[in-house]
Amino acid sequence: MKILVTGNTGYVGSVLARHLRSSRKEIEIVGYDNGYFAHCLTDSNYLPEFDYDQQYWGDLRDFPHELLVDFDAVVHLAAISNDPMGNKFEKITEEINYKSSIKIAKEAKTRGVKSFIFASSCSISGVAEGSNRKESDKLNPLTAYARSKVAMEKGLSSLADENFVTTALRFATACGMSPRLRLDLVLNDFVACAISSGEITVLSDGTPWRPLIDVKDMSRAIDWAVDRTSESGGSFLPINTGSREWNYQVKDLAKAVAEIISGTKVSINVNAQSDERSYRVDFTLFEKLAPNNQPIVFLDQSINEIKEGLESMNFIDANFRASNYMRLKVLEGHITSMRLDENLKWKNMKQTIYKRNNE
Ligand SMILES: NC(=O)c1ccc[n+]([C@@H]2O[C@H](COP(=O)([O-])OP(=O)(O)OC[C@H]3O[C@@H](n4cnc5c(N)ncnc54)[C@H](O)[C@@H]3O)[C@@H](O)[C@H]2O)c1
Repeated sequence: MKILVTGNTGYVGSVLARHLRSSRKEIEIVGYDNGYFAHCLTDSNYLPEFDYDQQYWGDLRDFPHELLVDFDAVVHLAAISNDPMGNKFEKITEEINYKSSIKIAKEAKTRGVKSFIFASSCSISGVAEGSNRKESDKLNPLTAYARSKVAMEKGLSSLADENFVTTALRFATACGMSPRLRLDLVLNDFVACAISSGEITVLSDGTPWRPLIDVKDMSRAIDWAVDRTSESGGSFLPINTGSREWNYQVKDLAKAVAEIISGTKVSINVNAQSDERSYRVDFTLFEKLAPNNQPIVFLDQSINEIKEGLESMNFIDANFRASNYMRLKVLEGHITSMRLDENLKWKNMKQTIYKRNNE
């Protein structure tokens, strides 16, 4: 099996290839990324791209469609991947996350790719009062990021057929350790707060609901989607991806971290305006269709792995919310240093290829 992973040098892609290699015998994995965060490595002993057979460095907006030869599946992770970046770069978010992405999906279909897996997000539910959100519920995307995910899902639904099976994995908020760690994710942020300052400052009033999923369990879900056929869920399937036990209120996440990292004080901003992105999610469909690929990581395991990862890096930066562990800060740093232009394109970047074993 030959798989293309776009956006592979990010937080999720840096974990995914190792998982796919361990779960499948015969596999060729090719990565494509423009490397916004390639330098943001947490473990200098290990370069995640060594788990890929080939690594292409290039921008999605200039994607060389001739690259799509003999692939069975495309796992599409590349994106402006959160709300803060999407808010700052709205137009570019639409260009990358939707317009360029749907072109790649169309070309993949034309060139005989059988399976297209799209990293969507539960956050497209927006405000969700009442019962847990199902896939069939009306969507309420509140941000440029969420709107781009909805547009891409819509595009994929019209492209899909029996020979081009598309799966939109609506992931819960990611958490957990990765060779390219992010601290702009709620659980990771709390662990970093606890370790660096002994105090978790919850920016909201703590009541919003957030479904979470560990980054390792995201890889297990992608693994399932790669093999999915239209008999299991239809030719286009949007599916909430996470687990019912992992619907948490933000204040409970803070408490769980404080229980593991003793001495941690939790301060909640009781005067905060209510956070609009509160939602609980129904994962019944995922339970039914992917019984062998359900999340298996426990919350305390995820917390412990982030803790151990940060400790092994001698992490002490209490001001990390202004650091390169925040994706928006990385992009802003590239622009200020004139490495990226105002369209988030590298100045002077040429398409380059790295091949495994120096073939
Ligand atoms: N982390 C989460 O909480 C979460 C939750 C739900 C869905 N997702 C989705 O999963 C996917 C992966 O998330 P992640 O956390 O690894 O994000 P990430 O930001 O760490 O990685 C995204 C990767 O895409 C690449 N990329 C962005 N624009 C590109 C372009 N124009 N050309 C080529 N490459 C480009 C970046 O360089 C980066 O390596 C994203 O689509 C994201 O929206 C993430």
